[in-house]
Amino acid sequence: MTESKEKGGVNLYDNAYGKLEESALKRVREETYGDDLGQSGWTTRDEYERFFTLLKLTERSHVLDVACGSGNPTLFMAQTIGCRVTGMDINRNGIAAARKLSEERGLASRATFLEADASSRLPFEDEAFDSVICIDAIIHLQDRPAALREWTRVLRTGGRLLFTDPTVVTGLVSYSELTVRSSIGYYVFAPPGENEKLINTAGLELLSREDSTPNMSRVSERWRDARSRHRQELVGMEGEANFDGLQRFLSTVHALAKEQRLSRFQFLCKKQ
Ligand SMILES: C[S@@+](CC[C@H](N)C(=O)[O-])C[C@H]1O[C@@H](n2cnc3c(N)ncnc32)[C@H](O)[C@@H]1O
Repeated sequence: MTESKEKGGVNLYDNAYGKLEESALKRVREETYGDDLGQSGWTTRDEYERFFTLLKLTERSHVLDVACGSGNPTLFMAQTIGCRVTGMDINRNGIAAARKLSEERGLASRATFLEADASSRLPFEDEAFDSVICIDAIIHLQDRPAALREWTRVLRTGGRLLFTDPTVVTGLVSYSELTVRSSIGYYVFAPPGENEKLINTAGLELLSREDSTPNMSRVSERWRDARSRHRQELVGMEGEANFDGLQRFLSTVHALAKEQRLSRFQFLCKKQ
């Protein structure tokens, strides 16, 4: 049972991945992101492409995508770059969707997906990957120092890591705002400077840090508005209470991002 269900929260990921191909959800993603890459975070296509450049990916790269969701963004990377990818996520529906898409696109020989908890030791050898990427998911992991140590362990020397943290506390946030912001699962909110400290402790060199809060502000607003336009179909799929809960979640993400009270940062690191 996910934490969101335990505490009477809102379901996002089970529906998003279990019904990935439903036309209403496809239309919502198109209207939200411009391009539908099956994503469930705050990332648009141009941002993914920039991540690939920052990671210096080539056809020879083998990339680990931690908390890959539906696997669609992972496969977009494999298709765009021609590299090998391994995706892992705790969500069974996400991994099932990823395996299906990878077969359908003829990418199964270069793409592996496994259902696993990224809070635990990763099921990979030391230095198994050229790059590690984790988009909008580090906030869901219970032991962040251990996760960063694990990402470092599985990265080859000289390899690059890119992750985003979409809930850095950069302003005043009320208890009820934090409650709604964390209504879709387990969340950890970090103060400014904490990720930098943990990156250093894990033995990584921080190459750059960028503020991508405006993107999250735009995407959350567009996502909420697109869902409103498709209200009827979505209520039929997820129920009225869940629909309203997700709309509250997206409105809160938008307000907190627009006012830069919870910010999204992207960290690019190198294993020394
Ligand atoms: C915001 S989504 C991002 C998914 C994907 N990276 C993307 O950009 O579309 C966060 C993901 O974290 C996954 N997740 C949450 N806790 C996890 C854990 N302990 N181990 C692995 N994945 C986890 C969720 O299932 C979800 O797919």
